[in-house]
Amino acid sequence: MNTLQASKPDFDYVASVYRWAEYLALGSQLQSTRKHFLSALNERRHALILGDGDGRFLASLLRSNRSLSATAVDTSKRMLRLLKKRCAEMDSRLVTMQATAQSVQPSACTDLIVSHFFLDCLTQQEVDSLVAQIANCCRPGTWWLISEFQIPPRSPWRFFAKTYIRMLYFAFFVTTGLCVRQLPETRMPLSSAGFERVAYHQSLGGLLYSEIWELRSKAVSTHTQPPATMGSSTLNEG
Ligand SMILES: C[S@@+](CC[C@H](N)C(=O)[O-])C[C@H]1O[C@@H](n2cnc3c(N)ncnc32)[C@H](O)[C@@H]1O
Repeated sequence: MNTLQASKPDFDYVASVYRWAEYLALGSQLQSTRKHFLSALNERRHALILGDGDGRFLASLLRSNRSLSATAVDTSKRMLRLLKKRCAEMDSRLVTMQATAQSVQPSACTDLIVSHFFLDCLTQQEVDSLVAQIANCCRPGTWWLISEFQIPPRSPWRFFAKTYIRMLYFAFFVTTGLCVRQLPETRMPLSSAGFERVAYHQSLGGLLYSEIWELRSKAVSTHTQPPATMGSSTLNEG
């Protein structure tokens, strides 16, 4: 396992207040977004959870799918401590690793990757290489459940979204030392790595979205256009 780099953000400082800060800012919207596709994950058997923070999503996932085991990777010791506490009753199905997501390879049995509001902590280059690395290690049929912020292209919410995201990055810079300043593009790297989007849901005028991508084939070498947005909530397994 790689050692953690000193320049990386440290979420230890915000771990204990993270949940309350989130509720104060957007109420239950983030948790609803994380859990939107929960019931679609019942056939999955082993999940790799990247940067789940205090473990609220993972606890829900392990409770709703009793056949699933999970590996949770996070750089923050305090976040991992909260996650383990929250998942204590399911700990026989849980492995935790304090490491960067970039340093961990999914095991051969992994059929679900989860990253909620995590890829936005990475630079574009880090997202590109993480996606390529995961695609390289996983079997076709693996799902990647992603929730993220986005700036909706045409929406009365666009100005609000831009301002909110700017404030969010500033708050994380001050509290954790996160140096990323803008949302990385995720759909292009996923498409290029052989993932295809099979489900999409958005809320708050498009500021928040959740989607499922399925690994269809590996190593598509050229960049392809990401699929167009599929309405406000769809799940089309093909
Ligand atoms: C913005 S929080 C998101 C937490 C949670 N997933 C959510 O939905 O709110 C980012 C989380 O990712 C972790 N993190 C940041 N950079 C990381 C990295 N390179 N590898 C693994 N975890 C990382 C942080 O410690 C934190 O728990």
